[in-house]
Amino acid sequence: MSDDVLLDVRNLTVHYKTKSGPVHAVENVSFKVHRGESVGFAGESGCGKTTLASAILRILPPNAEIVEGEIWFDGQNILELTPSEFRRHILWKRISMIFQGAMNALNPIIKIGEQIEEAITLHEDVSPREAWQRGADLFQMVGIEPSRINNYPFEFSGGMRQRAMIAMALACRPDLVLADEPTTALDVTIQAQIMELLRELQDTLGMSMILITHDISVIAETCDKTAIFYAGNLVEFGPVEKIFLEPMHPYTRGLIESIPSIENAETRRLTSIPGAPPDLSSPPPGCRFHPRCPWATELCKVKVPPLNQVGKDYMVACHYATAEGFNPPG
Ligand SMILES: Nc1ncnc2c1ncn2[C@@H]1O[C@H](COP(=O)(O)OP(=O)(O)O)[C@@H](O)[C@H]1O
Ligand SMILES: [Mg+2]
Repeated sequence: MSDDVLLDVRNLTVHYKTKSGPVHAVENVSFKVHRGESVGFAGESGCGKTTLASAILRILPPNAEIVEGEIWFDGQNILELTPSEFRRHILWKRISMIFQGAMNALNPIIKIGEQIEEAITLHEDVSPREAWQRGADLFQMVGIEPSRINNYPFEFSGGMRQRAMIAMALACRPDLVLADEPTTALDVTIQAQIMELLRELQDTLGMSMILITHDISVIAETCDKTAIFYAGNLVEFGPVEKIFLEPMHPYTRGLIESIPSIENAETRRLTSIPGAPPDLSSPPPGCRFHPRCPWATELCKVKVPPLNQVGKDYMVACHYATAEGFNPPG
């Protein structure tokens, strides 16, 4: 890991236009990812993780609108590139992705080798033969017999398709990979294998990774940093070892306390947070978490808490979190 900033998201706000008004899916989100670093995104379903990842990949659906903000990648604001410039110079080559259903990203009736070869030759000046060879090497790397590159996706099991998808994502040696629930569709043992593979590859290839998962224990095992989202807001961002041991934001506390630990999984009650996240077409004023927060005050009901710097590369959006710690009144 280095101090070299690769991705710098600044005040990003994304809304979806719907018949019943705008959905405030991502609100004023800022964070940085350094070269070689892995960041895990966590938070309940519907809190804006996929929207944020799609904004970075410029694959937002047509009803989405980037209301505000900038996304700097390796020194340039990628929101200023035209769609064709982005596809030509950034997508797959510099920033690539691993989706949850690999079947959707791979064409079932074209040999996997051909699909990888095409991805490589589209972006790099190499011969089809070299590209094919690189595909075979990648298969080896992700643990598939290289000759299977001659197969069609439908001939693969779910786990193997996901491995092939990873090979595809790595084909052009990207600087950043976004993995959105990469193992959700797979059974538990295969999930663990795929996560182990991703962790290893990220480490040996020195690339940066954003990993989105509903399983925050995977983030604790895999990532350097974590970003905790609540109702479209980034509420806590910082080093995994800090946040998992001593979370500051009341939402993060609830989230982390609800991870069942292996030793006392049977005896300990799940301390889930009472209530439910708000409807993002009419989020509450002030701190979006205040209706569920045991420490909420009058201030929390009216004033949106800014993301405060509370340590090195550590930010928390709570009126009562500062560099001195979490100190709610009373
Ligand atoms: N195309 C869309 N049109 C309208 N609302 C959407 C669309 N896609 C997602 N949303 C809404 O945006 C919010 C964030 O969704 P999403 O980014 O998918 O969350 P997550 O990935 O954290 O589950 C949710 O309230 C979701 O219902
Ligand atoms: Mg999602």
